[in-house]
Amino acid sequence: MDDKIVLTGVKPTGTPHLGNYIGALKSLIELSQNHKTVMFIADLHALNAEKDATKIKQHSYEVAALMIALGVNLENTILFRQSDVDAVYKLTEFLMNVTPKGLMNRAHSYKAMVEKNTEAGIDVDAGVNMGLYTYPVLMAADILLYNSDIVPVGKDQKQHVEFARDIAGYFNNVYGNVFRLPEPVISADAGIIPGLDGRKMSKSYDNTIPLFATESELKKKIMRIITDSKTPEESKDPDESTIFQIYKHFANENEIAEFRKMFIDGGMGYGTAKNILFEKINSVLAAPRAEYERLMANKPEIDAILNDGATRASVIANATVARVKKAMLG
Ligand code: ADP
Ligand code: TRP
Repeated sequence: MDDKIVLTGVKPTGTPHLGNYIGALKSLIELSQNHKTVMFIADLHALNAEKDATKIKQHSYEVAALMIALGVNLENTILFRQSDVDAVYKLTEFLMNVTPKGLMNRAHSYKAMVEKNTEAGIDVDAGVNMGLYTYPVLMAADILLYNSDIVPVGKDQKQHVEFARDIAGYFNNVYGNVFRLPEPVISADAGIIPGLDGRKMSKSYDNTIPLFATESELKKKIMRIITDSKTPEESKDPDESTIFQIYKHFANENEIAEFRKMFIDGGMGYGTAKNILFEKINSVLAAPRAEYERLMANKPEIDAILNDGATRASVIANATVARVKKAMLG
C-alpha cells in the first residue's frame, strides 16, 4: 500500500451494465485493495439531468450494493453518498469565487450543448441549467475536499480533473498553499465494449446487459446479441464479434486463446458461442450477484455502510472547509 489517496465518484444515473464494469468499476475495485480510497455515489451530480428523486435513490442503492458485492475493500475505502457530506455544498460555494467563467465555457459537456443548440438554430443556452454549467466546480470540490492524489477516470472525465487542478491552482495563488493538486489517471483503456446491437454498450442506446441481470435475463440478453449470418462451418473473425469482445474480459488467457481458435477454425455456430459466453459470465458473476441481491433486499445494511462512510468522510471534509474558510474570510 502506498500512501496516495485515490478518489472516485460514480454517478447514479442508470443500472450499471457490463460496459461500466469492464470500462470503469473493475479497476476501481482493484485499486481499493491497496490504496486509501474515497469512493462516493455522485448523486448531486445527477441532479442537473434527473428530476425523479425515486430514481436517483434506487440507482444510488444499486451503485453502492454493486461496489460492495464486487468486493471493494471496505477497510481501505470510505464509501458514501456525496449529498450526505454537507462540506461539499460549502466548498462548492467557496470555489465559485476563484473559478473563471471562461473555464466553464470550455467544458466539453457544456460546449456540446451549445453546439447542439447552435445547429438547431435556438438559443445557445437552451436547456442548460446552472447545475450543468457549474458541474466542474462541484467536481473540483469533491476532489479537493479529500486531499486526493489520484483520480482515476475515463477519458470523458479527464478535463474535469484538469479543471479541479486549475481551480486549486488559482486558489493557492491567491490564498497560499491550501490545496494539494490532484492528478487525473486515465483508467487503462479496456476499449469500447459493444452492446447487443454492436454499437457501444450504453444506456442511451438501450443495448446493455445489466451487470447483475438475473441468470435467466442474462441468458436472454446474450442470446439477443446481433451476429452476422455466417454458418456454423465458416471461419469467423473474433475481433469483429461482440461475443468474443465481451468474453475476453471474463476469461483467463488460455480460455481466451482457445475461444479465439474456435472462432477462426470454424465449426462453431453463434448459438454455441453465446452459450459459452453465458456460462463464463454467469460463473464469474454468480457469487457477487447473489451478494448484490442480498444487499438490495437489505437496504438498512447498505445505509449503515454509507452512513458510516459519510461520518468518516465528513471529518476530513470539514477540516478542509475550515482551512478554506479561514484562508478566505479570516
Ligand atoms: P453510459 O454510456 O451507459 O451512459 P456512462 O457514460 O455513465 O455510461 O459511463 C460510466 C463509466 O463507464 C465511464 O467511465 C465509461 O468510460 C464506462 N463505460 C460506459 N460504457 C462503456 C463501454 N461500452 N465500454 C467501456 N467503458 C464504458
Ligand atoms: N462526473 C463523474 C461522471 O460523470 C462522476 C464524478 C463526480 C467524479 N465527482 C467525481 C469522478 C470526482 C471522479 C472524481 O462519471
